[in-house]
Amino acid sequence: MSSTQDTSPRSRSLASENPPHPFALVAAMRSMGYSPPTALADLVDNSITAAARKVAIRVSPPRGTSDSGFVSIEDDGKGMPSDKLFEAMRWGGNGPDRSRQAQDLGRFGLGLKTASLSMGRVLTVATRHERGAKLCVLRWDLAHVEKSGWEILEGPDVHAVPAIEASSLSDPQRCGTIVVITQLDRLSIRSGHQAHAERNEAALFRKIASHLGMVFHCFIADGVEIKLGSTVVVPWDPFEGADLKDQERLGEKVAVTSFVLPHHSRITREQDGRLSGPLGWPAHQGFLVYRERRLIVPGGWLRLFSPEEACRLARIRIDLPNSVDDGWGLNVMKSSVVPPSWVMADLQRIGEATRRQARAVFNFRGERQAPSEAVEDPLAPRAFWNQIPTEDSIRFRINRAHPIVQTLKQSLREPGAAEQFLKTFERLLPLDAILQDPKRTTNGAVTELQRDDLRDILTLAKKAICVLRAQGHDQATAERIVLCAEPFAFHRADLEPHLS
Ligand SMILES: Nc1ncnc2c1ncn2[C@@H]1O[C@H](COP(=O)(O)OP(=O)(O)O)[C@@H](O)[C@H]1O
Ligand SMILES: [Mg+2]
Repeated sequence: MSSTQDTSPRSRSLASENPPHPFALVAAMRSMGYSPPTALADLVDNSITAAARKVAIRVSPPRGTSDSGFVSIEDDGKGMPSDKLFEAMRWGGNGPDRSRQAQDLGRFGLGLKTASLSMGRVLTVATRHERGAKLCVLRWDLAHVEKSGWEILEGPDVHAVPAIEASSLSDPQRCGTIVVITQLDRLSIRSGHQAHAERNEAALFRKIASHLGMVFHCFIADGVEIKLGSTVVVPWDPFEGADLKDQERLGEKVAVTSFVLPHHSRITREQDGRLSGPLGWPAHQGFLVYRERRLIVPGGWLRLFSPEEACRLARIRIDLPNSVDDGWGLNVMKSSVVPPSWVMADLQRIGEATRRQARAVFNFRGERQAPSEAVEDPLAPRAFWNQIPTEDSIRFRINRAHPIVQTLKQSLREPGAAEQFLKTFERLLPLDAILQDPKRTTNGAVTELQRDDLRDILTLAKKAICVLRAQGHDQATAERIVLCAEPFAFHRADLEPHLS
């Protein structure tokens, strides 16, 4: 309170302290909007910043009134001495403006507390920074904050003890940190039906694993092991097999790299499924923003464009150092950025160019380069059209090694007539119409087949198999060659049961 006598409203508001009610503030902070996967990712950030090579996560949702569950994140990182642990448990740490070492994945001094308490009511942190040293343990308990304000407690929550004892830190020679969250009031998978609870739990685990595999894929590729229960988290690389199209810097610090993923005829069905990503094709097109190699934004066009099916192969990687957090509007949960206005024109230009390139690949149903006519691998996926770039144009040629073409050639008495037919067909390719309305003119092969179309395509596939058999392939190989080729490859599931 001010010691002056002036009690006008203005001077009172300048001079009086008006601290938050601790419990009200903490209760609000835990509802910031974390989901279990994003909360766990924030805690894994801390482990990776502490140079951990192994992170083990256990999630045991509440199973009844006597078991309120626990979540633990154990790492083999540097650990903390007691004074550093005390600082680490302080809400807000030293504030967001403290300069950070490069590679520090933290920012606001909140994640450890807010992310943990978004799942449960008690947070215990146990840590050892030197071999043989005593384990330092502190905890925040919401019930205690409600009674006693900002008083931090020493020692573990009673329900966290088994997790700490089962961890590698029970060995005094091991360094690292274990974060244990107990009294999980926000991680219920309960349901009236036991089967539903199991299904919910399995879905929760899948979401957590796929989120962690996505945001930490660079670190996992570098050898950091993240385990969820006994399962090792598999990385998801959004740029696997992508063609690098362009690379430039925005200012001194930010790198932007444009990629276009391969057309689906050039990859296996399994690769196609993998590339679609944890959130599916529409969500991952556009800008993928990394901060210190940790994925923050897994796609979307930063409000510059709308998602478009034909642009789904466009993925543009933006790499930010942690020193530009402020300018790029990083949010506390590290799940979004707001780019500064001076980069928007460049992002628009890069986005437009990459979208154009991605559309061209998406709408094209042929090889990008003409393979040699003597086909190397008989089982390599085969496109019907070859694209042959010349100095000033691109020519489209029918792939003479394609099974349909082989079938056509064999079914005509005079081989010269077949060649004549193919050349005429190539000359008549309605290129203008395709370019004007690429989606409508080129996507026919991937739409669902009508019964009559299926019959036709099946007849053609069978004929192609006969021709291949006559060339010396066995039945299984002939079938596989045909099923790798367009358009049969698009309808593999429909055709396969009827082939032999
Ligand atoms: N697993 C850990 N190992 C070592 N230090 C940690 C760990 N988790 C948290 N810390 C320390 O606690 C501090 C506060 O963490 P946090 O609340 O997540 O904020 P921030 O990561 O933004 O600094 C970190 O800066 C770090 O020094
Ligand atoms: Mg953190």
